[in-house]
Amino acid sequence: MNLPNEINKYWNYLEEKYPSPRYVKKVKKLNFSKLKKEIDNKNYKYIKKLIRKMFVEKEAYILKNSADKNLKNTIIQLANYYKKNKKTSFYKMIDGVPNFHRVIDKNITKKYSLFAIKHSFYFYNWNIKTKLEKKLKDGVYKHWRYVKLLAGNSKKKYENNIPSDGQIDRLQIVRYPAGGGELRDHVDPRKNQRVVSGIIMSKVGIDFKNGGFYFKSSKNKKINIEKNLDEGDAVIFYGSIAHGVDKVDPDEKLIWNSNKGRWFIGMFVNDSDLVKNRITAKDLTGSLK
Ligand SMILES: [Fe+2]
Repeated sequence: MNLPNEINKYWNYLEEKYPSPRYVKKVKKLNFSKLKKEIDNKNYKYIKKLIRKMFVEKEAYILKNSADKNLKNTIIQLANYYKKNKKTSFYKMIDGVPNFHRVIDKNITKKYSLFAIKHSFYFYNWNIKTKLEKKLKDGVYKHWRYVKLLAGNSKKKYENNIPSDGQIDRLQIVRYPAGGGELRDHVDPRKNQRVVSGIIMSKVGIDFKNGGFYFKSSKNKKINIEKNLDEGDAVIFYGSIAHGVDKVDPDEKLIWNSNKGRWFIGMFVNDSDLVKNRITAKDLTGSLK
């Protein structure tokens, strides 16, 4: 049996039969090692059940211990390196695009499809050269390959792609700064990766006091799950479930050059800028009009 094929078929079947979930019903905890074991054992029954829960029963999962806690050191060192040596900048996803970082404030965010106040550091696989970059890549991919499989792709699909292939992997280290870092209600595209994942790299109550990740549970209700998250956990869910990041410590002063706030590693298969009518995430708040 070709596991990724079977999983993909099952997703297609569900997506045809049921409407896509918009609001989360339940947020459950699962050890990443358990998911990994079931996938390694090709336990198709287990995987199918999980997929059904995510799609039909609108469940999201906190995947405990998806990454080493010391990955935090790596991302802070990388962020410090880029801040010190490169100016905030932007590059389209075309062949040869370098790694870069960008401060996204309330003016810059208007150029994007989502409203976010954040400092993002972007990494592409063809630029992974230094020891730190390799640590980042290794630390994320040992989780991401399993998410890809759960999403109906093979473990290494897209991993070696370049922009002219159409779809590319991109890693993003994100700091939602104390002083109002946020990401407003949105849904993510399901085309290249049905299951969204991100690795949590801060602890509420220690690194920041208020704000953090939430799901919408109805049009006017949200569930903030940040207190259930620890460094190294990932949150996974079907991309049509609305979610965002509540303002991180909005009463503090926002200092772009500090490291205070909430850190996170995003991983996503993007349509490159060489794809016509590329599909991007959708804002649900009208903040960008
Ligand atoms: Fe998202």
